[in-house]
Amino acid sequence: MDNPFRYSGVVIGDLFVDREDEIAALHRAFRAGEHVFLYSPRRYGKTSLIREAFRRLPPKEPWAYADLSRALSLQSFVELFISAVLHGTESSADRVRRWAREFLSRLQPRLVLDTSGRAQVELGYSPRLAEPATLAEALDLPQRVAEDLGVRLAVALDEFPTVRELGGDGLVRAMRAAFQMHSQVSYVFAGSQTAMMEQLFAAERSPFFRMGRPLRLEKIPRDAFVPFLVDGFRAGAMDLPADLAAELCQRVDDHPYFIQTLAHELWARSRGRGIPIAQQDLTEALSAVVGWHDAYYRRLWERLTLYQRRCLLALAELGVGASLFAADTVARFELKSASHVQRSLEALQREGLAERRNGEYGLADPLFPHWARAAGLVSGGAERE
Ligand SMILES: Nc1ncnc2c1ncn2[C@@H]1O[C@H](COP(=O)(O)OP(=O)(O)OP(=O)(O)O)[C@@H](O)[C@H]1O
Ligand SMILES: [Mg+2]
Repeated sequence: MDNPFRYSGVVIGDLFVDREDEIAALHRAFRAGEHVFLYSPRRYGKTSLIREAFRRLPPKEPWAYADLSRALSLQSFVELFISAVLHGTESSADRVRRWAREFLSRLQPRLVLDTSGRAQVELGYSPRLAEPATLAEALDLPQRVAEDLGVRLAVALDEFPTVRELGGDGLVRAMRAAFQMHSQVSYVFAGSQTAMMEQLFAAERSPFFRMGRPLRLEKIPRDAFVPFLVDGFRAGAMDLPADLAAELCQRVDDHPYFIQTLAHELWARSRGRGIPIAQQDLTEALSAVVGWHDAYYRRLWERLTLYQRRCLLALAELGVGASLFAADTVARFELKSASHVQRSLEALQREGLAERRNGEYGLADPLFPHWARAAGLVSGGAERE
């Protein structure tokens, strides 16, 4: 059988753990025509949540999904957006052609239909996207289609912060102007740059100010992950005791992606051995996972300034909630001054190494302390747990 623990790509169906409340919240928003800002640090499971929530919708509630990080220009964004909406409705080729004629008359997209009848949209050279009316026509497509079908449509725009790079403030404003009139469409704006996402819906000057409800994704409760881990090992004829499964979660600070990575490695190396899994196996699997990421951490470490490194080590050693700004901490870790700490933390946050939660900074990467220990950067020498 295949390894049941996936650490890359989207997980749905049997591979998806928990998030019942979040799925219910999304479904409620879709049915109420509300918009949702879904955000979290990297790799907490935003994309998987969206896809699983969509998968569980009945066929009469269509949805469209676009990963905006795939767009490299305003034009490819528009192509992606239109294609996603046309795919989502699973309509016949004739109907798609009619929509293109009636709803996209300025853009006049070329439709390439693949064998399953899915439309791929191409805009020819210079489709006049700088003209507001042309862009508005594309952005209005979800509502036009939903009206035509007499349904509500859910549209997810994943990696949403990329829109600023693609079309600047103008695109963000055009989206707001269009979407606020869409009574039959519910949008999910998802992104992992948490500060930018918060700014988007919470800053009064933002065009998206209070346009929807924020949904900050947290880690998955250990109680939900443990049975999934135990079952996955059992399916491979292995015995992972529940307390060891809980320890696995704890060692990577309950981070969903790292739990899956570590479980994948432990499963792969324990398969077929015929003896119960022990703590030593977990330690070895963790060392192996740290080893995979060694080159990444080394490069990262080289990139950081001296104060950023010290700050990161202080975070790793002190844990969440410790104030790095306190005078004795600044002195102990040689952080120079509170303003140096502030600047370093902001840089670490941009690198995805630190995160800010309720005003407090913590470590965002649970593997880093293991690597730092293995590399001899923090007290304790090599990994010993
Ligand atoms: N509900 C879940 N059940 C099981 N594993 C999960 C779940 N959510 C996330 N994971 C694990 O985390 C990995 C990353 O998930 P996903 O790509 O959905 O996160 P993301 O927040 O969209 O990431 P990114 O920030 O890179 O966009 C998955 O491949 C899986 O290993
Ligand atoms: Mg994602």
